[in-house]
Amino acid sequence: MAALGAAAASGTFWPQSSGAASQPDLEAVLTAAPDKMPLFPGQLTGVWRYKGEVVKGDSAQLRDMPDSWLGPVFRVRRGQRVRIRFKNRIPQESIIHWHGLHVPPEDDGHPRLTVPGGEDYVYDFTIANRAGTYWYHPHPHGLTGNQVYGGMAGLFLISDQEEQALDLPAGEYDLPLVIQDRTFAADNRLVYVQNPMQRMTGFLGDRAMINGRAGNEYFVKGRSYRLRILNASNSRLLRLGWSDGRNLQILGTDGGLLDKTLVVPDIMLGPAERIDLWADFADMQKGAKVSLQSLPFNPGSGPMGMMGNTSRLPAGSQYELVRFQVTEEEKGETKPPERLASLERLDPEQAVNRDNPRRFFLEMNHMQPTINGRTFNMSEVAPDEMVRLGTTEIWEFVNSGGMMAMPHPMHIHGLSFQVIGRFGGPGYRFLDKGWKDSVLVMPGERVVVIMRFLDHKGLYLYHCHNLEHEDLGMMRNYLVSSLSLRDKRTTAQTG
Ligand code: C2O
Ligand code: CU
Ligand code: CU
Repeated sequence: MAALGAAAASGTFWPQSSGAASQPDLEAVLTAAPDKMPLFPGQLTGVWRYKGEVVKGDSAQLRDMPDSWLGPVFRVRRGQRVRIRFKNRIPQESIIHWHGLHVPPEDDGHPRLTVPGGEDYVYDFTIANRAGTYWYHPHPHGLTGNQVYGGMAGLFLISDQEEQALDLPAGEYDLPLVIQDRTFAADNRLVYVQNPMQRMTGFLGDRAMINGRAGNEYFVKGRSYRLRILNASNSRLLRLGWSDGRNLQILGTDGGLLDKTLVVPDIMLGPAERIDLWADFADMQKGAKVSLQSLPFNPGSGPMGMMGNTSRLPAGSQYELVRFQVTEEEKGETKPPERLASLERLDPEQAVNRDNPRRFFLEMNHMQPTINGRTFNMSEVAPDEMVRLGTTEIWEFVNSGGMMAMPHPMHIHGLSFQVIGRFGGPGYRFLDKGWKDSVLVMPGERVVVIMRFLDHKGLYLYHCHNLEHEDLGMMRNYLVSSLSLRDKRTTAQTG
């Protein structure tokens, strides 16, 4: 079914799904509906959340997170075909986007595909991505921030043979940590954006919630764990580090495993970004504790950020995220494998626009975040947003800086990219290695990424993953199509 013309040259990147199975390997229903949860003593908290159910296939492929507002954790294998019926039962239009997945446009959750409350949307696609930590969330235009904030999000974990051969910590030692900040009223109700300023800067909650619940204490054994960390906050940046000053051992990022473990003292993690960490508690005694924190940094959101920010966890402040307490000493593996995964490097020389990269200027125009001066329009595609199937391109995101500048976590749908340059910023440590689908662009920074448009023609999105910015229209379409006149011209110029 898939047109493999261009993909044939794609090497090991996406699998050549040579005839997807005629029957789905997994059939599931994902229902979004209002619910009430006992998050705190006293009143229940109203949320909107996904509940899952396996209709056909292995029921272990969907696992509920206990006591969580998050949807079930999907565990799928590369090459599997999944069919998922989304039942929208919230009183708002919605659609699900599979963040990071390489799927055809009709499965990508573009806002033009939203269905009203009471209706369904059926997805059917083959898992093409590398093993890694992906996720899903709603994507209706103007309402994404509100729906994610209300609880609609979940993890989508992919495994493959290469990953399985590594024998990384699995089962209860493969621990997801979804970080989200939320504000609650005295009666335990969720409080979202209260004024236009908070929308413009991005909403910051009063407390960090881990895995969709209030508790942040985890009891662990004295051994190694794989921690899959997703920053699913609407707008909050994190600067992750351990409380005892030990290094982070980073196994993977948005698009799966690195080639070898990256060892750094701390790392910035913007909204939508993921990190797979190797956490080793083997040198700790029973009862000992260690925490993952967000370390201090300059959030670079200027005077406006100050005005909009009424959060009890100010942007860039230091606070604890997750605390681990060792309950049982154990002598386990203490080192990640020497070599992790094969990692293809995209070659800038192969880019059709290597001498003239596309530039996307990220700017605030009178309270309105824009991309190249534009805002979202459901069907519009500008000439500089049209790309050709089968080509490799370089894009640059330029955050102009200045008084009004804010960080913009930029995300591209439908593919993974690689970061090949970062210039001019505040010089924090960013996860610019491996395959990415979201990248932080700090005030004054220019971030250069390279990507390849394979398999699927059609309309995709790129946008700021500060969900308030996205809802304000800091989002645009890009169109993948076959050779056009314009593209012929571009090819002639650069090739
Ligand atoms: Cu995670 Cu277009 O989004
Ligand atoms: Cu996405
Ligand atoms: Cu932004």
